[in-house]
Amino acid sequence: MLRHDMAAVDDVRKWVDRIVVGLDLCPFAQDPLVHGRVRFEESRATSLEGIMIELVEEMALLSDPDAEADTTLLIVPTLLGDFDTFLDAIALAEEVIEQTGKTGIFQLAHFHPNYRFEGTESDDPGNRTNQSPHPILHILRWSDVRRAMHDNPGVGLIPERNLALLRGLPTLPSLEGPLDTDFRRAICTDKFWDRHTQRIFEAHGEAIEDCVLQNREEVIGLMEFIEKNQIRSYLEIGVWTGRLTGLLHREFSFNRVAAADEGYAETKGLTINLPADVEFFRGDSASAEFEAWREKLGHIDLVFIDGNHTYPGVCRDFAINRRYPHRFLAFHDITGSNRWTSGVKKFWDGLDEGHKWEIIRPHAELGLEHSTMGIGIWSGTVEAEDAP
Ligand SMILES: C[S@@+](CC[C@H](N)C(=O)[O-])C[C@H]1O[C@@H](n2cnc3c(N)ncnc32)[C@H](O)[C@@H]1O
Repeated sequence: MLRHDMAAVDDVRKWVDRIVVGLDLCPFAQDPLVHGRVRFEESRATSLEGIMIELVEEMALLSDPDAEADTTLLIVPTLLGDFDTFLDAIALAEEVIEQTGKTGIFQLAHFHPNYRFEGTESDDPGNRTNQSPHPILHILRWSDVRRAMHDNPGVGLIPERNLALLRGLPTLPSLEGPLDTDFRRAICTDKFWDRHTQRIFEAHGEAIEDCVLQNREEVIGLMEFIEKNQIRSYLEIGVWTGRLTGLLHREFSFNRVAAADEGYAETKGLTINLPADVEFFRGDSASAEFEAWREKLGHIDLVFIDGNHTYPGVCRDFAINRRYPHRFLAFHDITGSNRWTSGVKKFWDGLDEGHKWEIIRPHAELGLEHSTMGIGIWSGTVEAEDAP
């Protein structure tokens, strides 16, 4: 059907790029995609039988030892618009797989614009994992599925993480317009506060781990803010082991980067690693020495305050840093979800001047639909290019 204009294939490609891979809903999708080993096939069938014939043809193609693809997305834009009809077609396809002796060789995954998992409400955002722009029969080799499961022992946690992300995200990336910078991909190998960090935190009352002590989703939001607002200089107060400063500088190549920390991570046997060009103040951000250093630093576009989280501590950092030239002051942990960070929430909620923006996203790596951290961005004078 309309094979020549390829509109449905384009829609599905965009959906795979921006949603499936873009939100990392399926960590196994990217590899065959970048190696061109996914067949995006638009069905030409005019009947259900025709679709089944195409299914058999695709399985034959993927069975070839010299097959150029690992998997097929059989896109059926016109015949299976009704979800119940689609489910009937899937049931028939499963029978065809069995009757052709392909059970245990091929597996079907399925996607549909009105996809609804059994037992869920139709408007449950969790259904979005399987809501594609057109009905799709996704044909996978069982051997590939088994290998992926073996290579990724955390595979069982993926649905929970996806559900948390989709239920917690206010909007999904748009399929229209130019592609946003893929910050998720850029930071996919950086270690953030995940379930392992959380276990350490719960056992010791402190997250003693050399990683970015942030919610990955919120750092993606911060990076979007940095890009939109053309932040070219950055100061982080409270860097822990320096992972966030290093990551942001790597991705944005700031003209100027500075950091301040009293070195608590080192007392826990960890090392602070900052890029060589970072200007580093070692000491208390509330000290006269810090003020002298900060004065010399001059203008900074974005100051990220993530040091002393007590209410008086944040108030002091705010009072000091607002005096020096800057565009934005940002505060970490504005949701104040625990007793160590409640002072930041108190400060942020009470801040009733200037312009405020919030980056509060689900902590999906913990399987949570809500944020345990949150970033607040403040400006006393200018409005940001765009709300984060
Ligand atoms: C939660 S960690 C920072 C996490 C880091 N921003 C990240 O994203 O990975 C808090 C850091 O603040 C530092 N800190 C706490 N109070 C401080 C103060 N008054 N002056 C300077 N650093 C401080 C600690 O040494 C610690 O490294």
